[in-house]
Amino acid sequence: MTIRPATADNIADGARVLRAGGLVAFPTETVYGLGGDATQGKAVAGIFAAKGRPSFNPLIVHVADTSWVTGLAVTDARFDILARAFWPGPLTFVLPRQINCPVSELVSAGLDSIALRMPDHPVAQKLLREVERPLAAPSANASGTVSPTLATHVAASLGNKVGLILDGGPCRVGLESTVLDLMQPRATILRPGAITAEQIAALIGSVAVSTEDPAAPKSPGQLASHYAPTLPIRLSATSIKPGEALLGFGRTAQATLNLSESGDLIEAAANLFAMMRALDDPTRFNAIAVAPIPATGIGVAIHDRLTRAAAARS
Ligand code: TXA
Ligand code: MG
Repeated sequence: MTIRPATADNIADGARVLRAGGLVAFPTETVYGLGGDATQGKAVAGIFAAKGRPSFNPLIVHVADTSWVTGLAVTDARFDILARAFWPGPLTFVLPRQINCPVSELVSAGLDSIALRMPDHPVAQKLLREVERPLAAPSANASGTVSPTLATHVAASLGNKVGLILDGGPCRVGLESTVLDLMQPRATILRPGAITAEQIAALIGSVAVSTEDPAAPKSPGQLASHYAPTLPIRLSATSIKPGEALLGFGRTAQATLNLSESGDLIEAAANLFAMMRALDDPTRFNAIAVAPIPATGIGVAIHDRLTRAAAARS
């Protein structure tokens, strides 16, 4: 495992590794992705192996430009409107696969759909343009653990399973993209993220938010314990118990760490995974208590991740 700064030379090396079927971790504005050439089945299988991820879990495919979408998926007016508004950015579309779509079937995990996103990060953009192929890239962490927002998180979680990690500093958004299913007449949010249901509904009318059984998910990233740290999580904590770490928000007295002292939800989202990771230390604490956080705007996505982290694990 090597962490290298995302210079032009190192990005060019990364592109060579990817074209040869290898894996490269790279920064996006949401979280670090573990990238592989989506058109090479072996590269995609390598991603599943490196993450230890259940193979029924489909991956997001990243593109450099909207023009790349034509050969991969069947689009409609809703896609046109939303991509114009939010791409590049943290919005992933689930669309019907195009006939003769060159992306490995393994990426779609047997579904007749494909998830596409154009990331808004100069390193991701440059890498995609140099590879000239769509990149499958789930979050660059071992399956079931907290997503990485720093290059060092990737190294800690995946170690020698990834040859090259391009370091582009901390991720701006800090939460995975919103996943929007356009396979049905009514657009449906499968995973909440920085682009909210309100923002989407304002442009295309009504939007459903998936309430599917998390035990049998169509979007398996929604497995209840997907974002599980080692320690138990206690939500909406208004005071701290003996042995607990307290993750604060706003004016939280006795906070061990604070997601945002000024009560800014965007700052909180950017800090969420890194702070959960820092507090998830059984040698110091017996649980992580989390202060109340408003469930508005990107706060909906923060609640989603925290609720999954708090879900009982077997
Ligand atoms: O922000 C992000 O989206 C990050 C960065 C690296 O871009 N990527 C990411 O990818 O979170 P991943 O693979 O960890 O999450 C994929 C999510 C999962 O919830 C998965 O089930 C869903 O998208 N998904 C992918 N393809 C799908 C499909 N064809 N149908 C339904 N859900 C799909
Ligand atoms: Mg993930």
